[in-house]
Amino acid sequence: MAIDPIKSTTQNPAPDIIETITLRRATAADAPALALTGAATFLEAFTWMLPGPDILAHTLKNHTADAYTHYLADPNTCVTLAVTGSPVTFPNDSGTPVGYVLLCTPELPTFNVLPTDIELKRIYLFSRFRTSPVLDARGATIPNLRPAQALMDASVADARALDATRLLLGTHAGNLRAIAFYRRNGFTEAGTRTFQVGNQQCCDLIFAKLL
Ligand SMILES: CC(C)(COP(=O)(O)OP(=O)(O)OC[C@H]1O[C@@H](n2cnc3c(N)ncnc32)[C@H](O)[C@@H]1OP(=O)(O)O)[C@@H](O)C(=O)NCCC(=O)NCCS
Repeated sequence: MAIDPIKSTTQNPAPDIIETITLRRATAADAPALALTGAATFLEAFTWMLPGPDILAHTLKNHTADAYTHYLADPNTCVTLAVTGSPVTFPNDSGTPVGYVLLCTPELPTFNVLPTDIELKRIYLFSRFRTSPVLDARGATIPNLRPAQALMDASVADARALDATRLLLGTHAGNLRAIAFYRRNGFTEAGTRTFQVGNQQCCDLIFAKLL
């Protein structure tokens, strides 16, 4: 795409085209792209609140293609991607991940986890795509549905399909935007945990939603 020299000097260099979002299930082949999107969305969300070395150490350790390959190989893990593009181009062009939600067996060692609990471990979207139109399987825009809500709805459906009865998640107590989003989705506070990011001990709130 040719770059407009006037626009490129203005404050908002985002392209004029409206990029639509479609959800699709991640497969093993998505692990490298997921690692990149996972790392970049994590850094975009949290560099403001954590020391640089800690957040980089955490990202390098947790957002690797190997780590996502491991998750994707587990039958109790579901990863749904928010990808750019339209499902009418699938499978030739299966879109670029700009967000995702990861559902897995709970990894909350200090919390009283029940056998039918499942964890919404990560839900991340690049900020630029949080208001993009969401398309259905036929490529039509779904009215009044934002990408994060589509990801949340998909993971609630997946959790129920896995016979889970409670959805858990941990989030930093200062992550007010995410907390407002979780509360709007019926999550209530259920406990706390400490969470290691590099050398920093963070205090997370644990939220739960009955399914
Ligand atoms: C968390 C996330 C998926 C939510 O998606 P979203 O599109 O931002 O969610 P919404 O805009 O629908 O909802 C956010 C809510 O927070 C509110 N909000 C926004 N900024 C806020 C702030 N600084 N303080 C308090 N509330 C805030 C919004 O008004 C909205 O509330 P409403 O439902 O009452 O209108 C998305 O913000 C994200 O990817 N964040 C970065 C990654 C992250 O933090 N993930 C969670 C880690 S546990």
